Amino acid sequence: MNQLNGFKNLVCVASGKGGVGKSTTAVNLAIALSNLDNKVGLLDADIYGPSIPLMMGVPPGTRPKIRDKKYMIPIESHGIKCNSMGLLVDEKTAMVWRAPMIISAFNQILNDTEWENLDYLVVDMPPGTGDIQLSLTQSAKVAGALIITTPQDVALLDARKGIEMFKKVDVPILGVVENMSTHVCTKCGHEESIFGSGGGDRLALEYGVEVIGRLPLDLAIREQTDSGIPIVAFDPSHSAAVGYKGLAIKLSEKLGLNKKADAGGPTITIHND
Ligand SMILES: Nc1ncnc2c1ncn2[C@@H]1O[C@H](COP(=O)(O)OP(=O)(O)O)[C@@H](O)[C@H]1O
Ligand SMILES: [Mg+2]
Ligand SMILES: [Zn+2]
Repeated sequence: MNQLNGFKNLVCVASGKGGVGKSTTAVNLAIALSNLDNKVGLLDADIYGPSIPLMMGVPPGTRPKIRDKKYMIPIESHGIKCNSMGLLVDEKTAMVWRAPMIISAFNQILNDTEWENLDYLVVDMPPGTGDIQLSLTQSAKVAGALIITTPQDVALLDARKGIEMFKKVDVPILGVVENMSTHVCTKCGHEESIFGSGGGDRLALEYGVEVIGRLPLDLAIREQTDSGIPIVAFDPSHSAAVGYKGLAIKLSEKLGLNKKADAGGPTITIHND
């Protein structure tokens, strides 16, 4: 446990490029982890395109409350403690910031937010594999990273760079998440791999990592995040929500922190001999 910051496992949700569903995965994963009885926080580090407040239904203009002129009280939504670089700096200002300023803002929001004993802090990283991303991963002890990709070759190429970046700084890759893996027809429900298939598997094989999640391209996923009630919060039994639950379970297994499985305590077997 990081006493100062108050979180056990910092999980980076990263991707080589934007638009692959990093934020969508981060919010739904956070809620799925919380549904498994974990205390979860969500940090939006995507200073160029912060979308966590919108996706979590945080009313525009909401700011974290400040204690002792320094510490930020995270905004709670759908049971998740949220804070976002976007709540502190507007995107236009962020655009002209140099790397050291972004890194210092990130360190501040990470360290000065009162997370209070989280099991997981899910960090929605800015897209890319440059200096900023590299430094952010070194700002705290990172339990592991999830690489989000779509099945297209271009996205996979960027995902490779992402994996290489984390390997360089010894951050374990918890797995690859293939997003928009298949298309689910709203009329008949059949699934089709419109972007081709097997890309995530090839990538995983190449780097000795695992594909730990596959999410369909599903209208309900987009509509729900747009409305501020992510699909996992809206209807945990929805087929798309079940995919995020599976991802949450795999992730906690990878980190050895599967609460639900532990909940019953040790199994006692009585031998009658
Ligand atoms: N599995 C999915 N099914 C349908 N739409 C999705 C899915 N994942 C993401 N989207 C949509 O794609 C767009 C980009 O997703 P987003 O999470 O913002 O990407 P990123 O954070 O990587 O830039 C958003 O409009 C989002 O609602
Ligand atoms: Mg995003
Ligand atoms: Zn159809």
